[in-house]
Amino acid sequence: MRTPTLKPHLNVSDQTNTSVSRKKRSFKPSAEFQRQANLGSMASYKKLHAESVNSPDTFWKRMANEHLVWRKPFTKVCTWKEPHAKWFTGGRLNVSENCIDRHLGTARENKAAIIFEGEPGDVRTITYRQLYFHVSRFAHIFENMGVGPGDRVAIYMPMVPEAVIAMLACARIGAVHTVIFGGFSSEAIKDRINDCKAKLVITADGGWRRGKVVELKSTVDRALAGTPSVQSVIVLKRTGNPVTMQEGRDIWWHDAWKGGPNHHKAKAFDSEHPLFILYTSGSTGKPKGVLHTSAGYLLGAKLTSHYVFDLKDTDRYFCSADIGWITGHSYVVYGILSNGATLFLYEGAPNQPEPDRFWEMIDRHGLTILYTAPTAIRAFMRWGDNYVLKHNLDSLRLLGSVGEPISPEAWLWYHKMIGKGRCPIVDTWWQTETGSIMISPMPGATPCVPGTATLPFFGVSPKFVDDKGKEVPRGTDGKMVITKPWPSMLRTLWGDDERFKQTYFSEFPGWYFTGDGARQDKDGNFWIIGRVDDVLNVSGHRIGTAEVEGALATHPAVAEAAAVGRPDDLKGQALVVFVTLKTGHAATPELKEALRAHVGKEIGAIAKPDQVRFAAALPKTRSGKIMRRILKQIASGGEVKGDTSTLEDFSVVAALQAED
Ligand code: WTA
Repeated sequence: MRTPTLKPHLNVSDQTNTSVSRKKRSFKPSAEFQRQANLGSMASYKKLHAESVNSPDTFWKRMANEHLVWRKPFTKVCTWKEPHAKWFTGGRLNVSENCIDRHLGTARENKAAIIFEGEPGDVRTITYRQLYFHVSRFAHIFENMGVGPGDRVAIYMPMVPEAVIAMLACARIGAVHTVIFGGFSSEAIKDRINDCKAKLVITADGGWRRGKVVELKSTVDRALAGTPSVQSVIVLKRTGNPVTMQEGRDIWWHDAWKGGPNHHKAKAFDSEHPLFILYTSGSTGKPKGVLHTSAGYLLGAKLTSHYVFDLKDTDRYFCSADIGWITGHSYVVYGILSNGATLFLYEGAPNQPEPDRFWEMIDRHGLTILYTAPTAIRAFMRWGDNYVLKHNLDSLRLLGSVGEPISPEAWLWYHKMIGKGRCPIVDTWWQTETGSIMISPMPGATPCVPGTATLPFFGVSPKFVDDKGKEVPRGTDGKMVITKPWPSMLRTLWGDDERFKQTYFSEFPGWYFTGDGARQDKDGNFWIIGRVDDVLNVSGHRIGTAEVEGALATHPAVAEAAAVGRPDDLKGQALVVFVTLKTGHAATPELKEALRAHVGKEIGAIAKPDQVRFAAALPKTRSGKIMRRILKQIASGGEVKGDTSTLEDFSVVAALQAED
C-alpha cells in the first residue's frame, strides 16, 4: 500500500477555502421546522450524543429495541476484538420483515411504499402490501432455484422497483446480494461475480437513459462467458429490446413469477448474518468487496434516516443515487422502507427530456425531501435558474447532499434556488464502509454552515491526526480516524480479511482510518477536505487510480501508465492519465481515444479518462516509484512545487510540462 504523506494530498479539493466560507454564514433551523422535527434542539442532540459515546451499550440497546423488530432478543450489544466487531449477539431478525411486514396491519399497509417514474414517463405505485407480495413471490422463486442463506446473488438492474424487490427478496431468504452499478462493463461484472462466486444473476433487457436503451443483458452475457459459479439468470423485461436467452440458464422475470405463492414466511437470521457485499474502489488493486451484516447495518440506516432526514409518514422522499452505490442501499432501500416512508424512484437522467426533469417531478409528485450529490447540483447551476423557476417547489421541506465536499457557492445556490431559503440542508459525510451517515447536521437542531458536514452522528467519535497518529489541534488539517466501533461498520472485505486489516486498521492501529483529510474548526464543525489516498472522487464516484492504471496496462500499446486527478468545475475531480508507449506505437489522437475506450471496456464509462497525455517518461524517485504528486501538479497546469530532490531526472518534468 502506498502510504500517503499528509500535505501535498490535502489540496485535492480546496473548495472549502472560498471567500464565502470565510464569512462564516450560519443558518439556524426555523422555529417551524424545529417544532415538527424528530429531534428539535441542540440540547437534545448533545444529550443523546453524549450518552451514545459515554454509555454506548445503554444507548444502542435502547435504539435497537425501539427501532428494529426482533424475533429473538439480543443478549450482548457489542463485542470488539479489533478490528472485528459483532453487534447484538444472540439476536435474530429478518431485514426484509423490518422493511415490509412490520408495516402491515398498520395505517401504512395501503400507503405507497414506492412511487416509480421511468425515464419515458411511465408511473407506477406500489403499496407496502403490494411490496410484500412482490417480495414474497421472489423469495419463493429464489428458493426454488436453490438459492439459500449465505448464497450470493448479483443484481445488475436499472433503477426500477424490481431492483428493490430483488434486494429485499434476497434479504428475506438470507441470500447475500451484490448490486453492480448499471454503468459497469462486462469485465467489471465478471470480476465481481467471480470474487464472490454468485449463483444467480438478476438483470433486465435494458434500462432507459437519456432517451436510449442501456443494454444490460448483452453486457451480462459477455461477463457470464467467464463466470463458472452462475447457474441461473432472471431477466426483467423493461425496454422490450431484443435479447438472447440461454436455454436452461435464463428465465424471464414475468415467467418466473407465474403461479407462485403470494405469501412467504420469513425466517429469522442471526444479527451478524451477511446482508450484502458492495464492491468499491481502493487505493490498490482490484475493487474491495465491503461486507455488511444484518442488524447493525439496518439499525444504522434506519436511525440516520429517522434523525437526519427527519422522515415522517407523510414524506415522499427522493434520493437520486443509483442502487448500485451505498447511498442507494442505505437511503433508497433499507433506511427509507424500514421507516415506512414513501420512496420516490426515478429511472433516468436529470436532463431528459429537458434539464428541468427533477423540478418538474418534484412539483408533479409533491416530493418533500431531495437527497442528491454536489456534482448534480453543479450541473443544475450550470444549466441555469430558469429551469428551476418554471416549477413550484413548495412541497420540499428538506434537502440533502452526499458524495463529495459541497462548496459554499453550491450550498448557497441549493439553499436559495431549490430550498427557497426555507429548507435545511443536510450535508452528510459517510462511506461505503461506514454503512450509514457519520457526520451531518440534525436538520431541526444544528445550525448549518455552508461547506461543512457539521457534527458527528450518535456513537461516532472521529479524531484528526497527523501522519504519526498524533492528534492535531483544532483548525489544522489532519487525517480523519474513527476511534470506536459503530453498528453499521463494515465487518471485513469479502474473502480478504488481511486486506481489511491492512487498509483500515494498520496505519493507525486501533482506529478505523477513513482515507479522508479533514479538520475541525473552533466551533466544532467538521470540514471534509477529500481523499488523502490514491482514490479519486469523479462526479461523486470513487475511482481507484490503481484500478485505472491496471486497466491501461492490459492495452498492447502501453508500457506504463499513471492516473491522477485534477480539479474540475463540474465533476469535482477529472481523471488524467499519463502514458508511456511501447516502442513501435505512435502517439496519435486515435490512440488516445482507443485508450479511453479500453478503460471504458475494462471498468465502465465512469472510469474513462478525461484526458490522456503521452509522455516519453514518467517522473520517478531513485527507487523507481512514480511521483504522482508531481503528475497531479502538471495535470492541473500548476507549477511543480515542493521537494523534488528525490526525483531521478528533472528533465522528465520539463518534457511533460511542454506536452499538452
Ligand atoms: C467522500 C458515499 C465530503 C469522502 C456515501 C468519502 C464526502 C467518500 C461526503 C466515500 C461529504 C462522501 N463531504 N466528502 N458530505 N460524502 N464524501 O464510499 O471522500 O462512494 O471517503 O460513499 O466520498 O465515497 P463512497
